[in-house]
Amino acid sequence: MFWEDRFRAVCDEVILCTDDGSAGMKGFVSDGVERAIAAHPDIDEVVAIGPLIMMKACAEATRPHRIHTTVSLNPIMVDGTGMCGGCRVKLGDTVKFACVDGPDFDGHLVDFEDLMVRLRRYANEEKVATERWSETCRMRTLAATAP
Ligand code: FES
Repeated sequence: MFWEDRFRAVCDEVILCTDDGSAGMKGFVSDGVERAIAAHPDIDEVVAIGPLIMMKACAEATRPHRIHTTVSLNPIMVDGTGMCGGCRVKLGDTVKFACVDGPDFDGHLVDFEDLMVRLRRYANEEKVATERWSETCRMRTLAATAP
């Protein structure tokens, strides 16, 4: 865990969640959101920032309670000017560009399934590039021989 002390210094309550229960409650972030909602029915906004699957789960946890949920999206971006369309995100019946319209959106409107498919589009190329990097990156050699 890192920055737990920093969060506790500025928050009324911190709910830690770990997959294996090694710190805080055993469960996902969405389980922590559900716990917070059960304890504080007056929550009027949730902000979820992290992996898409986590933000989707948080949005689904808050949807039945009609709690406004802001998510911060990180689609593939190319030009960052709203011209290439690489970062498009489906929100209900509309399409937005995360680079100029976001990156923060209403989590209850985001088409997470579409976005997750789009983020996996270059998975094979990323794998090849990572392998190539691990075989040829000179930084690794320099770090190993540094005094
Ligand atoms: S990165 Fe090109 S439109 Fe957003």
